[in-house]
Amino acid sequence: MKTNLNVVILAAGLGTRMKSKRAKVLHQAGGLTLVEHVVNTARELTPAERITVVVGHQSEQVQQVLAPQGVRFAVQHEQKGTGHAVLMARDVLPPEADLVLILYGDTPLLSAKTLQALIELQKAGSNAATLITTKLDDPTGYGRVLLDGNDHVQAIVEQKAATPEQLEIQLVNSGIYCFRANLLWKYIGQIGTNNPAQEYYLTDMAEILARAGHTVAAMEVADCSELLGINTRLELAEVDRIFRARKVRELLLAGVTIEKPETVTIDAQVQIGADSIIGPFAQILGHSVLGEDCRVGACSIVSDSRLADRVEVGAFTIIGASQVGEGAHIGPFARLRIDNVVGAGAHIGNFVELKKTKFAKGAKANHLAYPGDSEIGEKTNVGAGTITCNYDGVTKHKTVIGANSFIGSNSTLVAPIEIAADTYIGAGSVITDPVPPGALAIGRGRQVTKEGWVAKRKKK
Ligand code: UD1
Ligand code: MG
Repeated sequence: MKTNLNVVILAAGLGTRMKSKRAKVLHQAGGLTLVEHVVNTARELTPAERITVVVGHQSEQVQQVLAPQGVRFAVQHEQKGTGHAVLMARDVLPPEADLVLILYGDTPLLSAKTLQALIELQKAGSNAATLITTKLDDPTGYGRVLLDGNDHVQAIVEQKAATPEQLEIQLVNSGIYCFRANLLWKYIGQIGTNNPAQEYYLTDMAEILARAGHTVAAMEVADCSELLGINTRLELAEVDRIFRARKVRELLLAGVTIEKPETVTIDAQVQIGADSIIGPFAQILGHSVLGEDCRVGACSIVSDSRLADRVEVGAFTIIGASQVGEGAHIGPFARLRIDNVVGAGAHIGNFVELKKTKFAKGAKANHLAYPGDSEIGEKTNVGAGTITCNYDGVTKHKTVIGANSFIGSNSTLVAPIEIAADTYIGAGSVITDPVPPGALAIGRGRQVTKEGWVAKRKKK
């Protein structure tokens, strides 16, 4: 028989211990916000319309981040505790669920595999709920789990409410529970605020269910790393480190070479083709997709960009929101700012900056140039020091250069300007007028040579 599973993700808290203006679940680890990680995991278990995220602090931003996923939202206007948060979700959930799985937005390392095991355990027995526990050497901050003689959960005691003996207990509550839906909703109203924080603790459900004659099971997991809940930036850094290490491992096993893997930063969504080589301290971020046989040099940063196969990115190069064609060479020390399309086999060399530029197949700008808001034709050579003057102080203007042209070094191209195909621009020119096909354009002061001038000066 198919079991209907609703998932509720609690993500309304501010996270006081983060000491941040930003809601805790919007902080990032491994290149995604914490809550996105949790939603991604939940989606492996149940369709998006059966996932409800409880939002509160900065609810608009959280909803914006999650909107593309198609999940439901419940709003908890005041953060009165985890029990209250679950209650807020009740009327939003799709009906006819057998089980309700509660996840916390601040526990992003949890795997779908572990959750599947929790669900199976809950389905198999007659327990009212099953929760994930683990033993920690240092359980500080977590709720402690009290078991009865049959290893059923008697109660969960929060750090703030625990007696000195209870604080010695190393078995902690992960905050992840799978409830029988009807019993959760039947008893949740009994949660009170009789605790030092005067909050509605969801953890009280264990005791309430036990008192009502139901059993609550504990599923103890040996690997506690998955359960790390983020409350401080120290924990955020630790979780980020774990995500980075996971991603690097996944890529290494998929055939990507990563030099000094402990130094690179590669975001969760990034894809890299086999036999690509990533140098030390490189960062590949956002939705970047790299083809096969690419090489990204040391300390380069590629974000939200697509690199086709065999692209060479030299060291200390920055590529943002751009596309690079097959076999192109970029850098070292180059910067593709935004919205550039670089064609196959093109060369962009050191200290060249590109912005909103179409740089066609086989074109070259090997040194010290700024093509901005421009179109550079196939196989055109942009000489060292060439600058497109794209900004007149008010608006940006376009520069268009045709194919097979040669722009001499230190040319100043005053936009808007069109330079046709098969043209030559003399070095050091200031070009303000259109250049027709096949023409040579020179716009510079003529050289004056005064013979014997130095000797005459010395005599004076
Ligand atoms: C909670 C558990 C604790 C467990 C720990 C594991 C309770 C009372 N305690 O403590 O037993 O060991 O997690 O990490 O549940 N939230 C809301 N609305 C609220 C309060 C919280 O949505 O009113 C959300 C938060 O955004 C967060 C999650 O619930 O994502 C957990 O809240 P948090 O304050 O971090 O609980 P802990 O003190 O860590
Ligand atoms: Mg927490």
